[in-house]
Amino acid sequence: MKGIELVGSAQAHTRSLTRTLSHQRRCQAHPILLCPCTVRLWAWLTLNSPSKRFVEKDLDVSVAGRSFMITGANSGIGKAAAMAIAKKGGTVHMVCRNKDKAEEARADIVKESGNKEVYVHILDLSETRKVWEFAEAFKKKYKALNVLINNAGSIMSQRDVNAEGLEKSFAVNVLGIYILTKSLVPLLEKSPDPRVISVTSGGMFVQKLRIGNLQSERGRYDGTMVYAQHKRQQVVMTEQFAKTHTNIHFSVMHPGWVDTPAVANAMPDFHRSMKESLRSPDQGADTVVWLAISEVAITNPSGRFYQDRRVVSTHLPLAWTHSSPLEEQKFMSLLEELAKKFQPH
Ligand SMILES: NC(=O)c1ccc[n+]([C@@H]2O[C@H](COP(=O)([O-])OP(=O)(O)OC[C@H]3O[C@@H](n4cnc5c(N)ncnc54)[C@H](OP(=O)(O)O)[C@@H]3O)[C@@H](O)[C@H]2O)c1
Repeated sequence: MKGIELVGSAQAHTRSLTRTLSHQRRCQAHPILLCPCTVRLWAWLTLNSPSKRFVEKDLDVSVAGRSFMITGANSGIGKAAAMAIAKKGGTVHMVCRNKDKAEEARADIVKESGNKEVYVHILDLSETRKVWEFAEAFKKKYKALNVLINNAGSIMSQRDVNAEGLEKSFAVNVLGIYILTKSLVPLLEKSPDPRVISVTSGGMFVQKLRIGNLQSERGRYDGTMVYAQHKRQQVVMTEQFAKTHTNIHFSVMHPGWVDTPAVANAMPDFHRSMKESLRSPDQGADTVVWLAISEVAITNPSGRFYQDRRVVSTHLPLAWTHSSPLEEQKFMSLLEELAKKFQPH
């Protein structure tokens, strides 16, 4: 997987991000969309991938005999990760909501990788009961799952609820991941070298965990802010899962700004003006694949946040985004309660 040339330094990143945050706080700007200079700065910061320090042989492994479940594997980062893993010989379970798109992506992956061990599973992660049913059925059918990659993500322009009355993007971005992971833990624990990777976003840097409005019922619904909050929740969830399930290696990562349908649809102006500078899906998927297959990734402690194959802080310097252990435990209890409410008996 080819990376992008090194342009900026880590220190410059940190200084610029700190300036970005203080600018946002002063002008009350939106974390991603409403402030064009912030968007450009964010893009620039994450475009400058330090690929020069990547060790190529980290990915020089065969994963034949290992199985990988990837949500949202028909498009963008998920498809690129599925392709890379299939090329390394892994069995790939693509979890997608749209059958036609999924089959088309599967055909591309099989053709290019020459690996036929690629399976499509149809699941809309916004349908909470169905997430349970899918995971429980998968557990019964398959003997092993080595790696779960929670990649699918959703930004809504307006608040909508699912059949269970839950805000839809929360159902996809947070509760879907919680249920899928929790249900599959016993299968992962039975499998050698189990790993769970979640794809978050740098948007989470401007959010503190908020547990009082999980369904975004109060206040004006701002889809991008809601998304950024969910991305913070994914980071906290990963840290907490790592403490509870110590036999599994958990990680969460930011892919950088990547040219995918999600960005083109959710941020059309930004996409138009920055298109030439965005990462390719392969480049965005690089750290996902590294976390999923490399030996060196699991030498880091479980529960960490990564950018460009490196553990990085989950908070910016001087940020106000830290939450207390009590809030984090309460958050996990709320997820457990919600998940149980819709668990099939
Ligand atoms: N692109 C970036 O710059 C960027 C930056 C930071 C983080 N991310 C994260 O990267 C992840 C992948 O996004 P992407 O950029 O690669 O976008 P993408 O190409 O649009 O992929 C998103 C995938 O998620 C699937 N998905 C969405 N809602 C779903 C649902 N309810 N049930 C099942 N699948 C669902 C989509 O399915 P359909 O094809 O059927 O819509 C698609 O396969 C997301 O978590 C996103 O938040 C992306």
